[in-house]
Amino acid sequence: MRGARRRIGMARVDEVAKGIYRISTLEAESEFQFNQFLIDDERPVLIHTGMFPMYESVRAAVAEVLDPARLAYVVCPHFEADECGGMGRFVEEAPAAVLACGEAGAMLNLTQWDYSGPVQGFRDGDVVDLGEHKLRFLETPHVHHWDSMMVFEETTGSLFPADLYAQPGDQPPVVRENLGREVCGFYQEIGIFAAEGPVRRVVNRIEGLNPSWVHPMHGGSLPGDVVPAYTRALREEEFAFDGRIFGRRIPG
Ligand SMILES: [Fe+2]
Ligand SMILES: [Fe+2]
Repeated sequence: MRGARRRIGMARVDEVAKGIYRISTLEAESEFQFNQFLIDDERPVLIHTGMFPMYESVRAAVAEVLDPARLAYVVCPHFEADECGGMGRFVEEAPAAVLACGEAGAMLNLTQWDYSGPVQGFRDGDVVDLGEHKLRFLETPHVHHWDSMMVFEETTGSLFPADLYAQPGDQPPVVRENLGREVCGFYQEIGIFAAEGPVRRVVNRIEGLNPSWVHPMHGGSLPGDVVPAYTRALREEEFAFDGRIFGRRIPG
């Protein structure tokens, strides 16, 4: 299986907040979900694209809600295949679409890659008006990646934290269960966060935002009253890299 492309199923689409659709695909072997979020508005936004081989399926799911050629932004919260593997094709099909990432992401990766479409790097506090929705950018470096950023949709109070608050397993579109301890153990097993410090700084900011929703790219969306239990676990539990990558111990 080393290096092999993974077997993925069909996407399902659920409206998880007003005008916000969760497109979710379950990877059969790992029972891990890959989510994209579509904001239906005058200037529609796709947040994460899924991996390159998922493009046709994700595109078909977007098309259930709106014409993919209308996309105004494709948001890439960090440079990794499940976040942006389909970026080139989504942007190519939509004449007005811009790839939106953090300023560091634009400088480090997306203007330096085999990608010739438009890219815009955003700084913390920048806001994009989509019509009814407003998307605010948060720079969150070293939460999993150097170029990490998140977006917060202000009218629905929806935070899109990429891999933070992610849960393993085949989860329903909305999760009310407290899986806080379990997810910290999972993060440590797969080695997704190098250190607790940068994550806890961001968790403090997220608490200040008091989101009505947190929509992670793996697992289900968390309603606002469920989020504090997960935040508490991220403050109290160890979850940073302890020498394991996907459960495999690295020497040293
Ligand atoms: Fe990631
Ligand atoms: Fe991810």
